[in-house]
Amino acid sequence: MKAKIIGTGSYLPERVLTNQDLEKMVDTNDEWIVSRTGMKERRIAGPEEFTSDMGAAAARAALADAGISADEVDFIIVATITPDYLCPSSSCLIQTALGAKKAAAMDVQAACTGYIYALAIAKSFVETGLCKNVLLIASEKLSSVTDYKDRSTCILFGDGASACVVSSDAQKKGHLISSICLASDGEQSDLIVIPSGGCRTSAQHYLKMAGNEVFKHAVRRMESACRECLNLAGLKETDISWLIPHQANIRIIDAMAKRFEHLPPERVFKTVHKYGNTSASSVGIALDELLKQEQIQEGEKILLTAFGGGLTWGAALLTASGESA
Ligand code: UT7
Repeated sequence: MKAKIIGTGSYLPERVLTNQDLEKMVDTNDEWIVSRTGMKERRIAGPEEFTSDMGAAAARAALADAGISADEVDFIIVATITPDYLCPSSSCLIQTALGAKKAAAMDVQAACTGYIYALAIAKSFVETGLCKNVLLIASEKLSSVTDYKDRSTCILFGDGASACVVSSDAQKKGHLISSICLASDGEQSDLIVIPSGGCRTSAQHYLKMAGNEVFKHAVRRMESACRECLNLAGLKETDISWLIPHQANIRIIDAMAKRFEHLPPERVFKTVHKYGNTSASSVGIALDELLKQEQIQEGEKILLTAFGGGLTWGAALLTASGESA
C-alpha cells in the first residue's frame, strides 16, 4: 500500500501587514527587510481567529480538492507551535469543526519542520493499513507569540494554515510520498524558544531566536535532508522538477538553490515575499499554491524541505501519480 497526497488546501487571513506598517512599529525600514529576508508583507489573523479556525479552513479546502467528505477521514494530525490550548489539542477542535466523527486526532510539535514530520506520520499510518485517509493540517498563529517591540523577530513571522489529505485510495490521482527523512538536534534547543506554556515557565510568552546562529544551520541542514531523501529514493538532483524549501528567508532559499546547481532557479518555489515565515504551515502553503498554478505531469517530482526550532529538519519527496497506488 502506497501513501499519496490526493488533495491540498491552504488558508491565509485577510489582514496584510506590510513592511511600511512595521516601520511605524519598530526601528526598521523596507529596504533592510527586503534585502535581509525577501519579505514584503505577511498575513495576520484577526483577534477572534485562532489556529484551529485557520486549520479548519485549510482542511475544508483540502477535503474538497481530494473529493472526500469529513466523515471519510480516519485520522487528523495538526502540526503547530501555536495551538489554541495546551489541552485540548487543536486537532480535536478541528475534528468537531469539520464534523469528522470517526477520526482520531492529535497534535505534533516539530516547529517549522512540522509539516514534514506530520507527513511522515501520515505516510506510516496509511502504509501500515491503520488508516485509509489521514487529514494533515499545519496551522500557525505566530502573531500571538511575536513580540512587536523586537525588530529582529517581528518582521519575520506571519499567520496561515495548510492542509493535505494522505490516502491509500488507489482510484485517486495524487502525489506519492516517495521518500522522507527526519532529523533533530536537541543540543541547539536554545536557538529558537517560546518559553511559556510548558511546566517550566508561565509568563515568558514571546518567541526568541538567535537569528544568526539559526541561519547557519538552516541551509546546511535542509541541503543534507534533501540529499538524504534523494538517496533514499535512488534519485539525483536532476530528477527533481520543483524544490519547495521552508520559507524562512529569501537568502536561505537562494543559498539552498545555489547548492542544487543543476536545478534552474525558477524551479525553486517561493512565497516568502508575500506571507513571511508561517512556520509549520509554510511548505504546505507553497505546495498548495504550486499545485494550483502549475500543471504537474505524471512522474514529476517535488522535493519539500523544512527546518526549525528543536532544532528539527527534514525532507519529503513527492512523485506525481495518476496510477493505482
Ligand atoms: O523558521 C525557523 C528558521 N528560522 C530561520 O531560518 C531564520 C534564520 N535567520 C535569519 O533569517 C536572519 O538571521 C535574520 C533575518 C533573522 C537576521 O538577518 P541577519 O542578516 O542575520 O542580521 P543580524 O541579526 O546579523 O543583524 C544585523 C544588524 C544588527 O545591527 P548591528 O548589531 O550590526 O548594528 C541588527 O541589530 O541589523 C540589525 N537589525 C535590524 N535593522 C533594521 C536586526 N533586525 C533589524 C530590523 N531592521 N528589523
